[in-house]
Amino acid sequence: MTAPTDREIRHELEKGYGHVIGAKRVWNIRIAHALRTLSGTSASRRLQEWRNQLMAVLKVEDQVLKSYDRMAGVYNEVNQTLRNDSSFVLCKYNGEYVRRAAKDIYADQLRYFSEAVMRPRLRDDMTILEIGAGETTTIHNLMSSLAPLNLRWSGLELSWSRIAEGRRWAIEHDTMGQIDHLVAASAVDIPFADDSFDVVFTNGCVEQIRYGTERALSEILRVARHTVILYEPSYELGDKYQRIYLEGAQYCRGIPALLNGLGANVVRHELAPHSFNPFCCYAVTVIEKAPKHDVRPPSLSCPQCKKALKPIAEGYFCDSVDCSCVYPSIWNIACLRQEDAIFASKYVEMVTASKRTSPDMQSPPFDKVSDAQTFT
Ligand SMILES: C[S@@+](CC[C@H](N)C(=O)[O-])C[C@H]1O[C@@H](n2cnc3c(N)ncnc32)[C@H](O)[C@@H]1O
Ligand SMILES: [Zn+2]
Repeated sequence: MTAPTDREIRHELEKGYGHVIGAKRVWNIRIAHALRTLSGTSASRRLQEWRNQLMAVLKVEDQVLKSYDRMAGVYNEVNQTLRNDSSFVLCKYNGEYVRRAAKDIYADQLRYFSEAVMRPRLRDDMTILEIGAGETTTIHNLMSSLAPLNLRWSGLELSWSRIAEGRRWAIEHDTMGQIDHLVAASAVDIPFADDSFDVVFTNGCVEQIRYGTERALSEILRVARHTVILYEPSYELGDKYQRIYLEGAQYCRGIPALLNGLGANVVRHELAPHSFNPFCCYAVTVIEKAPKHDVRPPSLSCPQCKKALKPIAEGYFCDSVDCSCVYPSIWNIACLRQEDAIFASKYVEMVTASKRTSPDMQSPPFDKVSDAQTFT
């Protein structure tokens, strides 16, 4: 036998491994590798450190998550304290800077939101989702003030500790029966199907999303069936002091223009009359939507591909080919940020196989999978 020539070997290589050595792919690899190497050299590492220090001041999602997560519990406590606080504070009342007792301005602000903003849009049996629900402080305030309306509540919040505090509060105050979902997720990738909730609202959440505001607004619009209510500080309608404050706080701007670009049907956009913080007056923005889907119970969907998630013992599974991932559920709170996904392409095989093997092989966690039929 004669040895193959170089040409023949090359041909075999290209025929069998064209997908690995294709010219376009190889160039992409070379460029990506060069970029990676470049940012790893010592000169650029110093540059990187300097850049990171500078960037640490920016209101990016990770910073927002960490700072809010560390203050879990504070809102529910302050919410109680303010109701009895008769000290005088500078606030905005009917659009004027005045000094009033903290408990009065706080009560008027809450009453306005409940009675003038929310109640006219609500009917019995409606489903309501708050985006950026924190410790469910606003949900609980509304539950009490809107009674006896019979409403189903859900909350989505970036920080696990805050929404966990919300769940703790609900258990302690016996309100879990009125709550459908409490999830840890981001407004920029909402893990619910289209048209899931009759009303979706925010109370000071979009303000925190300086990068990704448009995407968050489009997601909020997507999961609402009828109405979106945004209660957010307004740069555009604010006075010069408010603009200085909002710039320093890095609150997002331009919500009306972004909504306009998204084709939203804005039926109301105005400054709320009262504000506890005189430099951070909120605007009410109401958007109406013609629902595309019939009424159906809100269901969890993958934050990446939006396919319906399957409940499993450890949390939720997305079986779309690209995702194939598990999202954990911790203390009954589904953790559904894209970053929470654990890529597990063999999950279904493992669970199915473990069900067939001998009982002593069926050690946890597989033997706890509740909905065996999901994978068979
Ligand atoms: C000013 S607090 C308001 C909390 C709550 N709405 C209330 O009324 O008590 C803002 C909340 O938005 C949350 N948040 C910020 N960015 C978010 C995002 N991208 N997705 C979901 N929640 C977010 C924060 O973690 C925080 O809990
Ligand atoms: Zn998915």
